[in-house]
Amino acid sequence: MKTTISVIKADIGGYVGHSSMHPALIEKAEELLKKARDAKLILDFSVLRVGDDLDLVITHTEGEDSPKIHGLAWNIFEECTEIARELGLYGAGQDLLADSFSGNVKGMGPGVAEMTIEERPSEPIVIFCADKTSPSAWNLPLFEMFADPQCTAGLVIDPKLHDGFVFHVLDVYEGDLFRLACPEEMYDLLAIISGTGRYVVKEVTKRDGTPAASASVQKLNFIKGEYVGKDDPVLITRGQSGFPAIGELLEPFARPHLVDGWMRGSHIGPLMAVPFHQANPSRFDGPPRVIAAGYQLKNGRLIGPRDMFDDPAFDHAREVATEMANYMRRQGIFEPHRLPEREMEYTTLPHVLKRLRSKMKGTKAPKKKKGK
Ligand code: F6R
Ligand code: MG
Ligand code: MG
Repeated sequence: MKTTISVIKADIGGYVGHSSMHPALIEKAEELLKKARDAKLILDFSVLRVGDDLDLVITHTEGEDSPKIHGLAWNIFEECTEIARELGLYGAGQDLLADSFSGNVKGMGPGVAEMTIEERPSEPIVIFCADKTSPSAWNLPLFEMFADPQCTAGLVIDPKLHDGFVFHVLDVYEGDLFRLACPEEMYDLLAIISGTGRYVVKEVTKRDGTPAASASVQKLNFIKGEYVGKDDPVLITRGQSGFPAIGELLEPFARPHLVDGWMRGSHIGPLMAVPFHQANPSRFDGPPRVIAAGYQLKNGRLIGPRDMFDDPAFDHAREVATEMANYMRRQGIFEPHRLPEREMEYTTLPHVLKRLRSKMKGTKAPKKKKGK
């Protein structure tokens, strides 16, 4: 049996500000997904949340890009938005960019990661959800999970992993898709995915095309052409026997790395791996957070979630991330804590700069005369 795992997420109202999610929205989403499961439209579901994002994990047999499943998620987001409006939650309906659903949530605001698999007898998966950052936040950890033997020992030790993996990378400006196999094309892969403003790892597969990881790549600012929040990505990964061990999937987050996002989607800061209950980015609207939800998938049934970062072995990573946050905050509004101008294109800064330019119109710096 082929099972599709769809993770569809949206920010449809924050509590308080952009920091967290009101329990009423989670309850509503669970109620509606239970109805869909009772009606046999879906196999199973799990509702996650990180910061102000509602993440719907849905298993089904409809395949990827299914209008039925995307439509279900869209309706849930709309119904939750109603509650968010009643409660006056912040930015109610923020990520629902279209007025009505037209077959696929892609390009309409919500983020989507999907994967269709032939389940193994035991199918461990980990779903990562992040808040206050962008899809390229997964570039470095995905490289470490699936290509770096210093992280994933199995790439060296285990014959089932020794062939390596293929990375499918999207150029978000041109829409080009690159397929690069590791280890032999590792340097080419790094040449592009180190450019996190432009290149985003969309998928990782085995050489025969078997899915290993799938990420959401929607960039809200490209959809709408102005600042509508960061893209707060999700990622589905498979673990064990032929894939990285669960601990190898989690390991990159034991050493926090710097990502785009944080306050006003305009700053660089550490990605902090937290247990579910700590996924409430408050300090300077951050720092960016990631949760890891582990499941055993059985005939489409999601046995879980297990809160994978709820482990004292990640306490030190949280302390390091706090240190990194202090260090970056020392820089205040100045680059490189604040993003460079090109990356600020879709924030509110260009409006301020435009006003300033019109005020200064006609005033030129005096030219120096030759020889003086
Ligand atoms: C970052 C984020 C927040 C807001 C900030 C200002 O992704 O969502 O940092 O950008 O709180 O929010 P507004 O413009 O809604 O007042
Ligand atoms: Mg928000
Ligand atoms: Mg968010």
